[in-house]
Amino acid sequence: MWRAKSKVLTSEPRAMQTSRAMGLLPCLLLWLFPRVWGQSEVQQKNSTFRCLQISSFANSSWSRTDFVAWLGDVQTHSWSNASDTINFLKPWSQGKFSHQQIEKLQHIFQVYRISFTRDIQELVKMIPSLHYPGEIQLSVGCEVYSENTSESFYQAAFQGEHVLSFQGTSFQKTPGAPPWMEEVIKVLNGDQGTREMIQQLLDDSCPQFVRGLLEAGKPELEKQEKPVAWLSDGLSPRKGHKQLVCHVSGFYPKPVWVMWMQGEQEQQGTQRSDVLPNADGTWYLRATLEVEAGAVAGLACRVKHSSLGDQDIILYWDGRDSSVGIIIVAVLAVAGLLVFLGVIYWKRHSYQSIQ
Ligand SMILES: *[C@@H]1O[C@H](CO)[C@@H](O)[C@H](O)[C@H]1NC(C)=O
Ligand SMILES: *[C@@H]1O[C@H](CO)[C@@H](O)[C@H](O)[C@H]1NC(C)=O
Ligand SMILES: *[C@@H]1O[C@H](CO)[C@@H](O)[C@H](O)[C@H]1NC(C)=O
Ligand SMILES: *[C@@H]1O[C@H](CO)[C@@H](O)[C@H](O)[C@H]1NC(C)=O
Repeated sequence: MWRAKSKVLTSEPRAMQTSRAMGLLPCLLLWLFPRVWGQSEVQQKNSTFRCLQISSFANSSWSRTDFVAWLGDVQTHSWSNASDTINFLKPWSQGKFSHQQIEKLQHIFQVYRISFTRDIQELVKMIPSLHYPGEIQLSVGCEVYSENTSESFYQAAFQGEHVLSFQGTSFQKTPGAPPWMEEVIKVLNGDQGTREMIQQLLDDSCPQFVRGLLEAGKPELEKQEKPVAWLSDGLSPRKGHKQLVCHVSGFYPKPVWVMWMQGEQEQQGTQRSDVLPNADGTWYLRATLEVEAGAVAGLACRVKHSSLGDQDIILYWDGRDSSVGIIIVAVLAVAGLLVFLGVIYWKRHSYQSIQ
């Protein structure tokens, strides 16, 4: 989309067009994220680098563009509109690129950001059905597989709707995109140089950068932190029910398996919360199970995580169930009352017999 202007404004110097095309590079390079695995058992080495660009245009004079990049679930880069320079969030965020390569990249990104903003403003002037405010989101990156193979992606959304992607060698509008996208796509695809460059960035530069990141960030990306788990009563069970809560915290990487069990039987009523970040970069989640108050016997929370090997954590609800305590207290209270009444009764009769 941002390329549109260079075709529209025919006076645009060729050098500027090129630098604009180059603008993609930083974004591509900044997208990386390793999806450590999909399933609980096998640890996959699939690694996805994802760069997100968020651009907001409030009116013809107010706009901002921000970037974030992730390798898997680890944020590696950010770039605020307010800053001239990309923020490398990890010591290894430069991957295996040299200082010069990074400098160059930085410059390319700066040019890209300025060009993008200008081009969108031009597009709004050109296309009557385009109005402020506008929100543009780009998701660009690649996924590197265990072997030499990789797959790239490039998607753009306008007002929250996916409107275009880059497939193979050209831009394509999505089936649901508004009609004026046709015009934009035509402009974008008219520039063969840009298309070739994007293709090269997606298919060569991105995987290369990601491999560098994976190598440089290996100690952190492959670290293993063991979870701790504890149980508590849920706050809002239905009447006559209990809500059992199993908290699991402090684990890394993110994939984890948590289930309420009755012996070897998985309790299908188990509800998993989202996996939430702790401040120290580890993860937290809770798994709840609602059961009839009398049916808690034998229930246990079971946790599997790569850091635990096959030593699953198993926490039994029994024995720490406060209702057991209440029953004991109640039994004792009743017994005490009976003894008390018995004593009074006995005393009465004693007095009577004295009289
Ligand atoms: C890697 O991810 C791709 C796409 O998500 C998937 O099709 C493939 O099976 C995964 N490979 C491995 C080894 O997990
Ligand atoms: C443009 O939008 C900004 C942010 O919403 C606002 O503060 C500013 O007054 C607007 N300017 C014009 C000319 O409408
Ligand atoms: C975003 O950055 C551009 C370029 O530095 C600047 O002109 C613009 O005012 C910034 N936008 C906001 C909302 O700060
Ligand atoms: C795998 O990568 C190596 C080094 O990057 C390269 O030389 C080789 O040609 C690649 N193999 C395949 C099958 O792509």
